[in-house]
Amino acid sequence: MPDKLDISTPDAALFWLRWQLDMGADEAIAPDPLDRLAAAPPKSAPQPAAQRAQPAQPAPITAPPAPENAPAPEDCHTLEELRAALDTLHHFPLRRTARHTVLTDGNPASRVLLVGEAPGREEDLKGRPFVGRAGQLLDRMLAAIGLSRGAGDPAQSVLITNVLFWRPPGNRKPTEAELGFCAPWFARLLELVKPRVIVTLGGTPTQRLAGTPQGIMRLRGKWLQCAHEGLDAPVPLLPMLHPAYLLRTPVHKRLAWRDLLSLRKFLDDLDND
Ligand code: URA
Repeated sequence: MPDKLDISTPDAALFWLRWQLDMGADEAIAPDPLDRLAAAPPKSAPQPAAQRAQPAQPAPITAPPAPENAPAPEDCHTLEELRAALDTLHHFPLRRTARHTVLTDGNPASRVLLVGEAPGREEDLKGRPFVGRAGQLLDRMLAAIGLSRGAGDPAQSVLITNVLFWRPPGNRKPTEAELGFCAPWFARLLELVKPRVIVTLGGTPTQRLAGTPQGIMRLRGKWLQCAHEGLDAPVPLLPMLHPAYLLRTPVHKRLAWRDLLSLRKFLDDLDND
């Protein structure tokens, strides 16, 4: 990018705006509001290097306190109530920057709960998880083993969600504070849905739900346990590669196929029990 942009004419300004969009800079916001009109601190005389303050570290972002009248997860008795309650949490920065609260898609009676990381741009626009290119690949992967989010029969359907219910600006990785804020709501979702098996898509949901720091390449395809708050007993958890990763690295689709077959076998064994 040039040091100084020529925005002297509307056409030139439009050109550079389009260029930023093409580069993926489609949000003009940071996680927290910044008052650019606030008075700048007075400039002090330059100090010798030894006395100069260290560069300011960004303050850790912590979850903001809820207002007294904010709804609580345990007040919600259906997924619709849960979504409606989450939608009102405007004290949480991500809620303010997102267009929609993205909770679930699919059949809530399903045995399989698929868990991704966070909604992306398409999901934020439509208010449903996994509806972009990665979601379309996910639908094809599920269809290959006889599952779909649209099926009415709980034996053939899935429910899809994320560990974060709002899009982080610019699709950046969610922070620990953001994931922690959603955790009690995610626990309530587990309590309401009572999945028989959880499939995590990618590293972030796997690490959170299986409680391990290991990377997804080591964990994918291994049957783990999810002992998250909200579950009466640990639930089998199968980590898989995220479909967005598979779009970028199609050679690893064969690993995903192995994992899908493992999920199919698990469900067939449940059917035969
Ligand atoms: N990626 C995710 O992890 N979740 C979505 O809903 C969409 C893309």
